[in-house]
Amino acid sequence: MNDMEEIILYAENIFKSYTSENQKKVDVLKDVSLSIQKGKINLIIGASGAGKSTLLHILSGLDFPDSGKVFFNKENIFSMNQNKLTKFRNNHIGFVFQFHHLLPEFTAIENVAIPLMISGKSFSKAKEKAKEILDLVGLSERINHKPSELSGGEAQRVAVARALANNPDIIFADEPTGNLDSLNSEIIHNLFFEIRDKFKTTFLIVSHNPELIKLGEIIFKMKDGKLLE
Ligand SMILES: Nc1ncnc2c1ncn2[C@@H]1O[C@H](COP(=O)(O)OP(=O)(O)O)[C@@H](O)[C@H]1O
Ligand SMILES: [Mg+2]
Repeated sequence: MNDMEEIILYAENIFKSYTSENQKKVDVLKDVSLSIQKGKINLIIGASGAGKSTLLHILSGLDFPDSGKVFFNKENIFSMNQNKLTKFRNNHIGFVFQFHHLLPEFTAIENVAIPLMISGKSFSKAKEKAKEILDLVGLSERINHKPSELSGGEAQRVAVARALANNPDIIFADEPTGNLDSLNSEIIHNLFFEIRDKFKTTFLIVSHNPELIKLGEIIFKMKDGKLLE
């Protein structure tokens, strides 16, 4: 590997299994190791059930492996206590789910302002920054709409804005355009590249979208809990 390529995230020998209701043990991740280069659009592809979502949740500190380590900028995230891990996630990581997961009773601008307030900004400062980010994702005209008043594509752009709120170093996205038509998918994909170019944000995206796969810079293939690369 070239010296110029900086590794932002590195996972080592990740194992994860679940025990189903009939007490049968299912190995979901079987010795997965990978490194993610800073500032790149990284993709994970693979069939349903391959373990992609489980891997993304572990790499982002949302879930724990049975064994194995995840280093973010050389720091082992699972050696942090819960409080530090929460702060770490808030400050360094953004996550976009397949379904937008916005809070239904809050407007777009409030949904984006919430993570900013959690990291200590006042309500007015948080709203100011949220407005800026919603401008960036092209939703200046929709800031006071609730999720139910937005189209699927708009709601997903709010979710991207929320993920961006605290200037994360890396954004994880789990089939972010899985429920969108091709035009809205393209808007989201273009947004990812725009954000990467502007803020040098790293992306790790699970996607089946052929257009995005064409554009992806690094592609990991997953099969039956293993990474083929
Ligand atoms: N919380 C859970 N409890 C039990 N089994 C799970 C759980 N989460 C995922 N699995 C199982 O792990 C496997 C991989 O799931 P997942 O990571 O969601 O795959 P993918 O995102 O590639 O479709 C599947 O067989 C799934 O049923
Ligand atoms: Mg999945």
